[in-house]
Amino acid sequence: SPGAARRGGGACFQRAVRARERLLDAEVNTRKKTFAEVQTERLEQAERTILIKCPPKINEKKLLQYLSSHGKINSHFFFENRGIHALIEFSEKNSIASLQDVIGIPSATEHHVVPFKSRLFTFTLKNPVGQAAAETPIHFAPQSHIPVKDLIQKLCSADSISSQMYSLLNEYQLTEENIKLRFLACSLVRDFARAYFPDSVVKPFGSSVNTFGKLGCDVDMFLDFHETRKHTTKMKKGPFEMEYQMKRLPSERLATQKILSVIGDCLDHFGPGCVSVQKILNARCPLVKFSHQPTGFQCDLSVSNSIAIKSSELLYIYGCLDSRVRALVFSIRCWARVHGLTNSVPGAWITNFSLTMMVMFFLQKRSPPIIPTLDRLRELADEEDKHVIGGYDCSFVSDLSKINPTKNKETLDVLLCDFFEYFGNFDFRKNSINLRKGKEVNKPESSPLYIWNPFEQDLNISKNVNQPQLEKFVALARESAWILQKEDKTQRMVNKEPWGLAALLIPFGKSNPDKIKNRVKGIGSETIKSLLDSLKLSSVNSLQKAVGK
Ligand code: CTP
Ligand code: MG
Repeated sequence: SPGAARRGGGACFQRAVRARERLLDAEVNTRKKTFAEVQTERLEQAERTILIKCPPKINEKKLLQYLSSHGKINSHFFFENRGIHALIEFSEKNSIASLQDVIGIPSATEHHVVPFKSRLFTFTLKNPVGQAAAETPIHFAPQSHIPVKDLIQKLCSADSISSQMYSLLNEYQLTEENIKLRFLACSLVRDFARAYFPDSVVKPFGSSVNTFGKLGCDVDMFLDFHETRKHTTKMKKGPFEMEYQMKRLPSERLATQKILSVIGDCLDHFGPGCVSVQKILNARCPLVKFSHQPTGFQCDLSVSNSIAIKSSELLYIYGCLDSRVRALVFSIRCWARVHGLTNSVPGAWITNFSLTMMVMFFLQKRSPPIIPTLDRLRELADEEDKHVIGGYDCSFVSDLSKINPTKNKETLDVLLCDFFEYFGNFDFRKNSINLRKGKEVNKPESSPLYIWNPFEQDLNISKNVNQPQLEKFVALARESAWILQKEDKTQRMVNKEPWGLAALLIPFGKSNPDKIKNRVKGIGSETIKSLLDSLKLSSVNSLQKAVGK
């Protein structure tokens, strides 16, 4: 009947609309995946990946041809790290098993090998002379960023501070290849963990995944047993209950220490290329540190810590919301490193993590705000986002498309300068930094710098920072604000002097005293005068007032 035809046509139309919606959804998803989606995808990809050490003269085409006989290759790249390495991602996991079947065991005469079969291989040419390398040279994907002095040069040819900041971001941020390598390192450690705990997963957290990692930063990884727990919940649905008999220990901490101790020994004794393995089991958060030579990463392995994962996800969300967020964080982190505010060894200095939280807080305080407060993100959370840790509600929205983009249009030029001015004048003596509220809150205790852990009440993430380090931060922030506000960009460009961000990345002590005098001449605004006063005339007093000594 015509009705049926119409209905049929209607259904057809509906189907087409839905298909289109799905397509659009897919498009949105590829642009803004949730943190969990990215993790799952990358971890699965790493399971299908191998690493091959290659001879100096390698014919890319022939290597790929050979490997392809074991299965389709999805992607590959070469990099230099104590020789040439190739990362190969197969499209099927079983290609690796097929390859492993035909691979030989080294016949060492001086050494005895541990027969653990990993996904790290060495490729050699039987007849290097006969198999000349191809004409086309191999492209090596860089795994480290350019030195600061080269960066400064590069920044000088930019046309604004904003473009300097994006340029720094571009040079320093993790590349697609480097991220693959990080997930591979985790996946290789998982192979060891799996020998004891078949359901365990090793996942990266911290700066490898929070969008704020720079090339060369450590890989923070944790051993996760959550999959195991999911299975037990499923079992309980039947008319009866069965559970595993498991060894019981007096505390979670003790279990963590025992597991890490065994995995640490395993990596130390049997892990190819795992060197300098250090078990630091008595720390607040027990961990195993090691250097993974094949990938070139320094790794920190710990056991699943839900709070650290939540903070990684929170930073991931902030980093994805607006392109200015990452550009500002990278610039501030680089600035802090150059001036010795942060350090790769632990101590009383500010950590990159604390510094990032300070930038987030600053962005929450803009008007209109550039990123929402954590309380706002919790309001947007749905059922699936519910997450309670230790009785404390740590829920926040995971779907980025539910967060409205900011109406704030400020340039990075303004934001960089205001960041320094804001923290150069922050009342650290009285106030603490609270990202949940996006407001200064009275300090609950007397630590010089107090930044609330957003997911754990009454925990200060910057407890380690002492008074002199905070004073140094404030002094450098003021000096930097002052440089940016007074500088005559055109003059500096004409003189071929570093300007803008580049001027901030040169240790201030090294600047020529004549130049400092020149700076004093051209002061215009009241802000600069007062900044100058506080810096040059009564720097000791005002600093002490600001940091509460
Ligand atoms: N972390 C935390 N509380 C702290 C320190 C760290 O919750 N006081 C968590 C954060 O999720 C952090 C992760 O542990 O991202 C890793 O810590 P760390 O390696 O110190 O910081 P990263 O963010 O990885 O920065 P970096 O590039 O300096 O390694
Ligand atoms: Mg780290």
